Amino acid sequence: MAKIIIGAGSNLGNRLQNIRQGLKNLTDAGVKIIKISSYLKNPAAEGTAGGEFLNAAVLAETDLEPEPLLALLHNIEKDSGRPQPHQPKEARSLDLDIIYYADRIINTPNLQIPHPRRLQRWFVMEPAREVAPDFCDPVLKKSLKKYVMPENMVVISQASALRKRLSAVRESGRKIGFVPTMGALHEGHLALIRACRKEKLFCVVSIFVNPTQFGPAEDYHKYPRNLKKDAELTRKAGANLIFAPTAKQIYPTGYRTFVEVAGLSEKLCGKYRPGHFRGVTTVVLKLLNLVQPDKAYFGRKDAQQLILIKKMAQDLNLPTEIIGVTTVREPDGLALSSRNLYLSPAERKTAPVLYQTLLRIQKDCAKQENSLKKILKEAAVRLKKNPLIKLQYLEAVDPDTLEPPEKAGNKILVAIAAFLGSTRLIDNIIFQIGNGKISKKSA
Ligand code: PAJ
Repeated sequence: MAKIIIGAGSNLGNRLQNIRQGLKNLTDAGVKIIKISSYLKNPAAEGTAGGEFLNAAVLAETDLEPEPLLALLHNIEKDSGRPQPHQPKEARSLDLDIIYYADRIINTPNLQIPHPRRLQRWFVMEPAREVAPDFCDPVLKKSLKKYVMPENMVVISQASALRKRLSAVRESGRKIGFVPTMGALHEGHLALIRACRKEKLFCVVSIFVNPTQFGPAEDYHKYPRNLKKDAELTRKAGANLIFAPTAKQIYPTGYRTFVEVAGLSEKLCGKYRPGHFRGVTTVVLKLLNLVQPDKAYFGRKDAQQLILIKKMAQDLNLPTEIIGVTTVREPDGLALSSRNLYLSPAERKTAPVLYQTLLRIQKDCAKQENSLKKILKEAAVRLKKNPLIKLQYLEAVDPDTLEPPEKAGNKILVAIAAFLGSTRLIDNIIFQIGNGKISKKSA
């Protein structure tokens, strides 16, 4: 008897009953079913008629040779009400495919084994792996449990399609990770995607230039947009799905609801960008509600944003775990940012001064010779001497409250924002402050 794996699917009528009846017919015809996988829900491919598919895989044994086995499967499909021969894009009461027939490799016009499109179909490979983890794919020469699917990344722009796809992913038992971005992707964003993939999560990346977080005089219209390039980078980094909605999808006419982390959103950058964080927390909450991820990844480069989002998640009992990822920098220390593209060559050469300033502050604090206030003041004076830099703020705060640091021995967040020409850059560093150097008296 040959070991075989059959893929079963249905998206028409009573799907579960269709598949169960089909498998019963298979047993009645002498095929010995060893194991049936869990049933997966899977949206129909674009252009295919009918609703959502139910899919499963079956490990079985048979004496039939591949050609008669195929004829039997076609007969069973016909019994379920599916016309034979069938059209490629029609809805299917029952679809039975030979995925594997022992270790045979067959390539005839009528029959190709293993199934030629199996590797692109997670709804075939996942259940096949479930029923026969040690089954060896004769083409890949690898057991199914060792095969990691290079899933085809999909780009979805409709919220309804996103929900459908993700509920199928969730039901298949996979956890979901989420990386929200505004596109113009660089290695900083890709580090977030890689952190998500490292944990083997189904990785969703959103690309949405969020109008509500830009001030009227800011660069919303000028913000770099290139979905094609971003999609390629995202795919290469191993993400599974891009959600790229339109502004109308996220903020339909009459949109009214906003969320704000009071007290924290007016500090640091919030002082100079009124309404910015209200826009950020609102869009992030909306995206978290749409994606409903287990984990969401944010860069520490935008320290205040990360702190606000963590607070929002805590205050609003969001089920998502918020994860901070280390800032990715150019070799000269400049934090990667989509806005670095705007810098002139001279500004680009000057830009690493921001990070150098932060490192110098950390070093000066470690020496414990001067008060934090004095160290910050001297750093600001040095920066103001640079004609290409227009300092907006340089502040040390408690990383939880964003209030002035109170207790020695605690961590402090030193954050900087400065204009180089018309480009606003931000950076920050978090370190432990030595004893006795931040008390009001010594400051
Ligand atoms: P965006 O600026 O595109 O950044 C998306 C994510 O990438 C943020 O979490 C940001 O902190 C992270 N990131 C950017 N540069 C990084 C770097 N050099 N190293 C590590 N991570 C970096 O931040 C936003 O978009 C938006 O405000 C958003 C959260 C998407 C809401 O609209």
